[in-house]
Amino acid sequence: MSNSAIAQRRALSVAPAAMSVHPISPVKAEGAHVWDADGKRYLDWTVGIAVMNIGHSHPKVVSAVQRQVAEFQHLCFAVGMHESYVELAERLAAIAPGPSPKRTFLVNSGAEAVENTVKIARVATGRQGIVAFTHAFHGRTHMALSLTGKSDPYKAGFAPRAAEVYRAAYPYLYRNPFGLTGEQAAEAYLEQLRDLVATTIGENEVAAFLIEPVAGEGGFIPAPERFLRGLREYADRIGALWIDDEVQAGMGRTGRWWAVDHFDLEPDLVATAKALASGFPLGAVVGKAEVMDAVGPGMLGSTFGGNPSACAAALATIEVIQEEGLLQRAATIGDAIRERMEALQRRQSALGDVRGLGAMVGLEFVRDDGHTPDPELVQRLVVECRERGLLVLPTGTYGNVIRLLPPIRMSDAELELGLATLESAIAVARGADPVPA
Ligand SMILES: Cc1ncc(COP(=O)(O)O)c(C=O)c1O
Repeated sequence: MSNSAIAQRRALSVAPAAMSVHPISPVKAEGAHVWDADGKRYLDWTVGIAVMNIGHSHPKVVSAVQRQVAEFQHLCFAVGMHESYVELAERLAAIAPGPSPKRTFLVNSGAEAVENTVKIARVATGRQGIVAFTHAFHGRTHMALSLTGKSDPYKAGFAPRAAEVYRAAYPYLYRNPFGLTGEQAAEAYLEQLRDLVATTIGENEVAAFLIEPVAGEGGFIPAPERFLRGLREYADRIGALWIDDEVQAGMGRTGRWWAVDHFDLEPDLVATAKALASGFPLGAVVGKAEVMDAVGPGMLGSTFGGNPSACAAALATIEVIQEEGLLQRAATIGDAIRERMEALQRRQSALGDVRGLGAMVGLEFVRDDGHTPDPELVQRLVVECRERGLLVLPTGTYGNVIRLLPPIRMSDAELELGLATLESAIAVARGADPVPA
């Protein structure tokens, strides 16, 4: 069946709210590549939105899941404690940021992980206020959408939203209103945050600050180290917790297990999902034992959370990243992409900002005035890339960012192919001749 035939059936049977960026129907995926129903092959730099970090269908993950399914498929952890859940909690504690002892609670998705961090933070502190940030995305469930920054399409129409959620400005340095750069800009955002808390919430009413160290849906915006360090210090000072949403940035994507590892910071609670189990639905809250132990038996739970096949996939994924040196590879891939894109930026004024951490690279496109977001160019670029056999995704609060999420297990030839394709697609989308690679 062709892509267009599946699209026709979809129009009659699938809720229109479930959208697809690319009008393709995947039939096979392996390593860095995806094949569609028309037989076309693509280099996949979306990896299912930061999920298949180690590439599609890694043989170790496939055989671990096959083994588990043949043994048993499901017995809820609330019924009996399968060993893979316990082993995964041990492995996550070993790789989690910071030296404190850790405990883990497993769920099915990123939104569910975030929801649970909020529940845990409220019980552990006895406070209610959650401070989230502009440009944030934390998921689609009711609490998660209330924590998300952007209104349309994530929150509009879904009111009333959850109470006791406050919003501070994310340090989006490329668009900061202070006219400052570097540490001074980060300090200005911190000052604004502290003022917001002290004057409009009350320092002893904040249960937690919830932040993505690299804002994903907001536009692949890394928070500066000074800001995150200041946030940690301020949270400690007022007795609040720091919840680190690593759902998109975690699991090796940035060249370390977690984005906050770049700064040697220890959050109180970490939410992870996406790449954790290489495509099997799994999310986790990994938190300091002293915080996690505040929540009593039975207060958290999930029928499918931590299901055995997802745990087997996650254990295999962690092993692959360790055995194949993929943290280092992610850093190398990220550096190579940034270097080439920064060189392109010197020739293309439309490429306003090249940023990111490790293999999580954002390209922000602007109009000729050098500032106004250009989402139309990004839409054209996504199509031009696809037509040349490269899948990429748009992102950003203003829809003007291309996010690059290459597999962190990819050959130099695949890396080069992706970069050359991107360069020529940018030139064509801009209406110029392709730039020679
Ligand atoms: C940072 C972040 N948090 C939470 C979520 C929600 O995850 P899920 O779609 O698995 O619910 C996402 C999804 O994109 C995300 O990027």
